[in-house]
Amino acid sequence: MSAQEVVTFGPSLSITRMTEHDLLEVVEIEQLSALSAWGWDAYHKELQSPEDVIMLVARTETADSTLNHEHAVAGFIVSRLVADELHINNVAIRPEVRRKGIAAQLLKAVLREGRRNGARLAFLEVRAGNAAAQGLYRRCGFQVTGRRPHYYNQPAEDALLMSLLLETSP
Ligand SMILES: CC(C)(COP(=O)(O)OP(=O)(O)OC[C@H]1O[C@@H](n2cnc3c(N)ncnc32)[C@H](O)[C@@H]1OP(=O)(O)O)[C@@H](O)C(=O)NCCC(=O)NCCS
Repeated sequence: MSAQEVVTFGPSLSITRMTEHDLLEVVEIEQLSALSAWGWDAYHKELQSPEDVIMLVARTETADSTLNHEHAVAGFIVSRLVADELHINNVAIRPEVRRKGIAAQLLKAVLREGRRNGARLAFLEVRAGNAAAQGLYRRCGFQVTGRRPHYYNQPAEDALLMSLLLETSP
């Protein structure tokens, strides 16, 4: 996917590469999502190495009564390619539009892009208590392959390591 390319899913959702114009909304969604905070500077820094990262945003294209404005960024995903491995770092969706399949579409898009760029394995860490995210990753084919004790703080929690072989995934 080039910077300009748009992948449209039905009348209401499009997925594009993240640009710095999206960052205020991305950071807002991050803050609403209780993620370990990266903040504007960290996302901006990642955007400076486009050959190593795949960062996508999903936009709702039609007026959605649950969002304040059209074309709002509904969610985002951030991943980094290291050799033939794709590390999924962050994914978050605006609370009002969760459970509509947006994260699954973003994750599938990032896996497709990763595979196209030579990734053979995708992996991520997820809080052991984050059932929603684990459900999402399982739904997209990831399996738990390890546990990292006390990986997170505030609050302290183990991480589950989940991975997916991209060569064999659909
Ligand atoms: C995790 C998160 C990204 C899921 O986004 P979403 O757009 O609501 O997810 P989807 O609608 O694409 O759901 C895909 C699948 O994930 C699973 N899932 C999603 N939310 C779930 C929940 N609250 N409980 C259980 N399973 C859930 C389901 O299997 C779902 O498929 P289904 O709706 O057909 O049952 C979203 O809840 C979020 O932003 N959470 C806060 C940030 C976060 O924890 N990010 C992950 C860690 S980096």
